[in-house]
Amino acid sequence: MVQKRLWGGRFSTAPDEIAAQFTASILFDNRMVREDIRGSVAHVRMLGRQGIITAGEAAEIERGLWLIWDEVDAGTFDFSVQDEDIHTAVENRLRALIGPLQGKLHTGRSRNDQVITDTRLWTKGALLELATGVVELIDALAEVAAQHVETVMPGYTHTQRAQPVVLAHHLHAYMTMLQRDLQRLRQAYERADVSALGSAAMAGATYPLDREFVAADLGMGGISVNSMDAIADRDFVLDALYAMSLVQLHLSRLSEELIYWSSGEFRFVTISDAYSTGSSIMPQKKNADVAELTRGRSGRVFGNLMGTLAMMKGLPLTYNSDMQEDKEALFETFDTVAKALAVYPGMIRTLTVNTDRMAAAAIADFILATDAADLLAKNGIPFREAHEVIGSLVGKCTAEGKTFADLTDAEWAEVHPVFATQKPPLTAEASVALRDLPGGTAPRQVALALELASAATEDARAWIDRERAVRETVLSKP
Ligand code: ARG
Repeated sequence: MVQKRLWGGRFSTAPDEIAAQFTASILFDNRMVREDIRGSVAHVRMLGRQGIITAGEAAEIERGLWLIWDEVDAGTFDFSVQDEDIHTAVENRLRALIGPLQGKLHTGRSRNDQVITDTRLWTKGALLELATGVVELIDALAEVAAQHVETVMPGYTHTQRAQPVVLAHHLHAYMTMLQRDLQRLRQAYERADVSALGSAAMAGATYPLDREFVAADLGMGGISVNSMDAIADRDFVLDALYAMSLVQLHLSRLSEELIYWSSGEFRFVTISDAYSTGSSIMPQKKNADVAELTRGRSGRVFGNLMGTLAMMKGLPLTYNSDMQEDKEALFETFDTVAKALAVYPGMIRTLTVNTDRMAAAAIADFILATDAADLLAKNGIPFREAHEVIGSLVGKCTAEGKTFADLTDAEWAEVHPVFATQKPPLTAEASVALRDLPGGTAPRQVALALELASAATEDARAWIDRERAVRETVLSKP
């Protein structure tokens, strides 16, 4: 059956089927069916309260909308590509259920302010879910970090061994990135938390709509202040895409480290079999697929951000159909990041850390050279000069095949008179303990940093719980 279109009045020719499929968004925007129904419920409640339609009419339309909600629950709500978009599908179904009264629902409303409302409500839910996933991953990292506050390993610059750090410090760096992600997800959430209903097509409506009531009924933080901006604005989509892109970026960088840390050359960690796959030809192979695919999917996630920026950049005010393209980007990015966040905590919790391999690498390659130079500087030698002295010591040792630990007291004294009475730290443990300032890798500082991180995570959890409670009330049948 060909479904009724919402704009058929002025058209004399039936739509071309290929063109109809080309323009339809129903195959993806059906994901927002609950948000669409709920937005309509808020709008029709307001129409009734304001006397724009009668209270009886409003109640009957609302009843019909909740019947569709039940059908969605039961999995019996049906739509076809003929429905064009989810807004049309819900209206068509509502007409089948309650008859021509359905036509009053769209009083003072356009699909333009409707689609934004649906997308904003959906985005809020998506961001809350991702924030929950990020908290879960921070928890997993914190658990592993807590066991490795004293585990030394090399820190790198230019992928060359630079200075020893403790593993917990390295993991806390990722926790810190993810804490910023939580802040960004929350900011994107607050940007999405604005009701555009009442903007109608783009100039506002001629009815005495109570916009504040609708916003409050939908659990939205406030209302838009300019009808044209409200209709043309997709900044909130871009904010969400950017916030999600950084989550993916951080997971991708962590993935890269896990991939090479688990290689035969490093063997710093062993990824559990449960998170690895094998090769079809090489029986010995165990590949870090979860990490590789997380890294690989970053391309799509960043592409969606770039694509949406490009899609928006030339659009005149206000609505243009180009903007229908925002949703696939949003959905695909959400799905990709959500899946990575779902799998990652388990992979982190089941990592085996090969502390002996890390410790051996943490002392190699003259990694303590900075500490030796620091000791000279602490004795009044200008740091640049100290750098020279230790630099030539490294050159000499390299030529003679020695490490600092091989040097005799006499050889140290020859390097510089300071070393006749004082020795630089010669173990990774001694080196990290010296970096005892806020943000440094001394185990004492790292333990403090982990405590602060857990307080920040608690704050985020409280925010998520609060917003989720509001959302559950709004998006449930009374
Ligand atoms: N399906 C459209 C979208 O997703 C909503 C309809 C917008 N209005 C219109 N006149 N085509 O953006």
